[in-house]
Amino acid sequence: MEFSTQTTASLHQIKTAALAVGVFADGILSPSADTLDRASNGALRDVLKTEFKAKANTHLVLRNLPGVSATRIILVGLGKQDRYNAAAHIAGELTFANYCVKASVPEAVSTLASIECGNSTLRARTRATAMVTGRATYQYNATLSKVDHEPAPKLKKISVWINRTQATEAQIGLREGQAIANGMNLTRLLGDLPPNICTPTYLGNTAKKLAKEFKTLKAEVLGTKEIEALKMGSFLSVARGSYEPPAFIVLRYTPTGAKPAAKNRKAPIVLVGKGITFDAGGISIKPAAHMDEMKYDMCGAASVLGTLRAVAELELGREVIGLIPSCENLPSGRANKPGDVVTSMSGKTIEILNTDAEGRLVLCDALTYAERFKPAAVIDIATLTGACVVALGHINTGLFSTNDALAESLLQAGRETQDTAWRMPLDEAYQEQLRSNFADMANIGGPPAGSITAACFLSRFTRAYPWAHLDIAGTAWRSGNDKGASGRPVPLLVQYLLSQAS
Ligand code: BES
Ligand code: MN
Ligand code: ZN
Repeated sequence: MEFSTQTTASLHQIKTAALAVGVFADGILSPSADTLDRASNGALRDVLKTEFKAKANTHLVLRNLPGVSATRIILVGLGKQDRYNAAAHIAGELTFANYCVKASVPEAVSTLASIECGNSTLRARTRATAMVTGRATYQYNATLSKVDHEPAPKLKKISVWINRTQATEAQIGLREGQAIANGMNLTRLLGDLPPNICTPTYLGNTAKKLAKEFKTLKAEVLGTKEIEALKMGSFLSVARGSYEPPAFIVLRYTPTGAKPAAKNRKAPIVLVGKGITFDAGGISIKPAAHMDEMKYDMCGAASVLGTLRAVAELELGREVIGLIPSCENLPSGRANKPGDVVTSMSGKTIEILNTDAEGRLVLCDALTYAERFKPAAVIDIATLTGACVVALGHINTGLFSTNDALAESLLQAGRETQDTAWRMPLDEAYQEQLRSNFADMANIGGPPAGSITAACFLSRFTRAYPWAHLDIAGTAWRSGNDKGASGRPVPLLVQYLLSQAS
């Protein structure tokens, strides 16, 4: 996909296959719609009187409008003007991008980002345009036989129409949005791939491939022997239940350019992603219904890879390190059993009361490993608990942190990219639920506040640095008819890292 800006004043003279203009409910035209209406002697307003109510998520195609050079004008419904905001802008761009893909349009021009909304900047709006357009062109066909799958989207070029003086700001936003979209699409593909293909080894190879593509990325993939040498007894106890070998992936981004003096160098930010490529629950096996969806239990890992891809594409001015503990969680003669006590890399012992609470068992060792980087912040991303889906549904990612400043930066990044998170409590009082008679802690805290006690468990391994945890169990994929990975929370993470790089 190629993004560019158009700054020609005469909108009606733009030659394109599809030109999007925004319309609000009650016949209110956006400035660009108004311009075209005048160029076409009121042809546009006539249509609004009868045929188009401009509700959100609707559009109307107008062909051969007199006095207008574009082949088609796409009227994009934006809903009520007084409720227009960043989310409504994104919905409008998505409606347009989806139309372009369906209609096999090869290139198009959108004027939607030129519409002011709330206190959003043009940069944020063009970022959203590129993000959404890139997202609309994602198509899974990796495992569909050639005859069956749909032809690849024809859409190759989107141009954003804006005021001449704003071109630079708009281009910065487009570049960011494109990098985010590319990152999200990698994250989505890894999530959607079946678990017999997307194994820990496959994730490791993906990291190595990224390191080949971007000189600023270095990948290291540790196998069983090396993980044993690190004494990651908790991670290994989960991995042991499967024939599929585990992988501990370290993907490191180092900015290029003049090497800053060691003392000026900012400490790195570490991202830790849960990489369970299939979670059957282990001996505490899950029910059969929807168990296929547990291929998505590596979406935290996938979001770390997608985010690092975006960071490399953007040539971010800050060091970022991705850590991925990856394995399968299966029942077998070598699997964890309820009652087993394992020793984590930190030396703390854990009584495994439910083998299905495996995410925290692999993450805790990665969080201990993170200490060696003396990080400015560590953020883990995990499809950790069904309880988080109960609490927040599929709208907000659950955010847990003991550090208010870090929490606020992440919430802000989520708001700016419409990839929102909601902060959950993490009071000391919940820690009590993890008490064990036979180890330093149990790996479950009972039914009450399941997503919080999971975060409490992780917090015990994060005392050496500022830390936040994102529970993406409800937001990483959609179930049902259009089952598929969402690419979240790549926008939130990239936006946060951008905010920390300047
Ligand atoms: N990967 C699951 C969490 C999950 C479940 C995410 C459903 C999305 C949808 C995790 O490993 C798990 O099984 N968690 C258990 C924890 C429990 C045993 C304390 C859960 O949520 O039921
Ligand atoms: Mn589980
Ligand atoms: Zn899991």
